[in-house]
Amino acid sequence: MPAISASAPGKIILIGEHAVVYGKPAIAVPVSQVMAKALVTPNITAESGSVWVQAPDIGMDDSLSELPKDNAIAKAITLVFAELGVSRPPSFKLRVTAGIPKAAGMGSGASVSVAIIRAVSGFLGSVLPDETVSDIAFQVEKIHHGTPSGIDNTVVTYQKPVYFVSGQPLELLSIPKPFYLVIGNTGISSSTAAAVGDVRKAWEADKETYEAIFTEVGEIATQARGLIEGGEPEGLGPLMDQNHELLIEMGVSSPELNVLVGAARNSGSLGAKLSGAGRGGNMIALVQKENTVNVAEALMAAGAINTISTLIGHLGELK
Ligand code: MEV
Repeated sequence: MPAISASAPGKIILIGEHAVVYGKPAIAVPVSQVMAKALVTPNITAESGSVWVQAPDIGMDDSLSELPKDNAIAKAITLVFAELGVSRPPSFKLRVTAGIPKAAGMGSGASVSVAIIRAVSGFLGSVLPDETVSDIAFQVEKIHHGTPSGIDNTVVTYQKPVYFVSGQPLELLSIPKPFYLVIGNTGISSSTAAAVGDVRKAWEADKETYEAIFTEVGEIATQARGLIEGGEPEGLGPLMDQNHELLIEMGVSSPELNVLVGAARNSGSLGAKLSGAGRGGNMIALVQKENTVNVAEALMAAGAINTISTLIGHLGELK
């Protein structure tokens, strides 16, 4: 059996995080400058059925049988076995590298799962349809946080910009006019489970206020879709600003995120917001091409630990 490798991109949420957990639409796009990779190689010296997992980023070097059942990597592998009806696989070694900052709102969990699912199923001789890959990654997402909307596994599996409503058929976005984003990393890792859990508690305590915020975010996502598909992406700036204010109201921003968002706005970006679960992680700024470097430098000067500039709606990459 030949070695098989697979990779999957990171993602950012352009509009609609958190509200998407409550059934509102959201827009997410893949970020191919950061990729998770999985490599499966046959382990002919091991006894049949042995699976060894190495994930150096998290110090994992273990037999699958020793991993807890609720470990995300173990779950991705065993769900593939279940899907393919494999009870005793040929022995193999799986090596996973997550080239995506962890707990930073860039979909590292979903991306690692998708890379593993594709590599392991490929090694076992099957090419799973995207829908199945996304479904399995969604099951794994539930380990990361109890009530995922499904947006991360969807955008990472299909590797295309999506307009996403939980439980609805997939809608890919067409982008007639590509646009530039600068992503700024606060360097603060933050747990999606904690942020999603806190929003849920706040929603339970005051449903009226939170439902109103979520509805407004959903309307912004719908307007954003119209601008993107209508070839007017510059109009996204004010919508991103509004979305950021609503995320502050939800209680998921942080001083560091607000500083970076302010720095982006002051250095000529068209709009900026946090992206992902918040509390840390990344923010995004919409920029004109000629302003990309300016905004990236302003973010670094304001405390970002790194930036990524990316062209959305086009296969090209800037950095
Ligand atoms: C995380 O990337 C996005 C959240 O909306 C959670 C989810 O949709 O599952 C915060």
